[in-house]
Amino acid sequence: MSKLAIDGGSPVRDINVNTFPPRGLITEAEKQAALRVFDEAISSGNAFGYNGKYEQQYEKDFAEFMGGGFADGVNSGTDAVFVALGALDLDLFSEVIVPPITDPGGCMPVIFVGCVPVVADCDPRSYNTSAEQIEPLITERTRAIIVAHIAGDPVDMDPIMELAKKHNLYVIEDCAQAHGAKYKGRLVGTIGDIAAFSTMFGKHHCTGGQGGVVYTRNEKLYWQAKRFADRGKPFNIENPQGNVQAALNCNLNDLSAAIGSVQIKRLPEIIAKRRKIGETIKKELESFKTVSLGWQVPDTESVYWFLKIRLDLDALTVDKETFCKALQAEGIFVNPSYRHIPCEAPWFRNKKTFGSSGFPWNADGYKGERNPQFKIDNAIKVTDEHFNIHIHESFGEREISDILEASKKVENAYLR
Ligand SMILES: Cc1ncc(COP(=O)(O)O)c(C=O)c1O
Repeated sequence: MSKLAIDGGSPVRDINVNTFPPRGLITEAEKQAALRVFDEAISSGNAFGYNGKYEQQYEKDFAEFMGGGFADGVNSGTDAVFVALGALDLDLFSEVIVPPITDPGGCMPVIFVGCVPVVADCDPRSYNTSAEQIEPLITERTRAIIVAHIAGDPVDMDPIMELAKKHNLYVIEDCAQAHGAKYKGRLVGTIGDIAAFSTMFGKHHCTGGQGGVVYTRNEKLYWQAKRFADRGKPFNIENPQGNVQAALNCNLNDLSAAIGSVQIKRLPEIIAKRRKIGETIKKELESFKTVSLGWQVPDTESVYWFLKIRLDLDALTVDKETFCKALQAEGIFVNPSYRHIPCEAPWFRNKKTFGSSGFPWNADGYKGERNPQFKIDNAIKVTDEHFNIHIHESFGEREISDILEASKKVENAYLR
């Protein structure tokens, strides 16, 4: 058996010699698109702005990618969640069920629309939540559910939609990590009432450094989102007499949108490549004894924002951290723990929201649990049993085989 790199052996991949290919997300085409925006601004003498022809084009392109519906560009994925919530026009202190594992930006906006986040646990096999975990949390105050398709793996949506229908709740799909993922043949983001996408530079497609999109097939929600994203401007309102509600300015801009239009045309190719990499590794791992691709809902197509890898720790002589360190020493990029559980963070535990108010939990108007503590046993167990391998669409045969070879080498060394 070859000696592990962590014990002084030679690594499967010497990353100083064999660097990983760069992602190459930004190309000459994006540069030309941006230059066009500048050239027009210079020759016309009018600075580029927002909601202009480039932003409108990107929103049209985005909606086309989604197979119809309406898109509104905003300036981050966090704002996309905020605007999606704003579009629902929820009453103060409404409870909104949020995912167990998500970026803070997928949860914090609930506070900023005056609502109360209620954390659902994970499905015990996944980073994502499920109807079974959500149902017991529904109270007479619940108005909406946010689900996040983490890692690009779709949530099991049908039972959640049934539950939402039964209790008259809105469903927001957070698709920040899942551009183009499919659930039973349907694109994620088209299943719930409204969806939020992040288009910051690390996502499947981007609008430059930061950005986001609110997407819905419901025209009424679309106009509400548009107003909420732009200081309550009276869009699509007859005889407008001024701004119709208090709101912030969450707009995207024409320069970012011009980049987004180039990117979204490349998105199908990016998705296809990521799927091929993810599916190849998933299939090859089937013959491994302790390492496998984490469970996915049947009849779904993940877009693999990262690979969620499960370890059978009972069959190994080491813990997950040691296994990951050994894999890293072999030259593979891994994140040993995806413990992004918002309700474990100090801001949530200390209710640090507006000054010392403890809003919304401490507010007189809120009649629910003032001490927000949630069952997240599955989320902890799942994050303990899994780690993430970073991949992207520019990985080739060599990167795939190195991931597999390193995983096999480490597994063999630590097999019980
Ligand atoms: C699931 C999820 N929701 C929301 C966000 C927030 O997006 P942004 O960073 O664009 O604000 C992210 C960012 O990674 C995310 O992964």
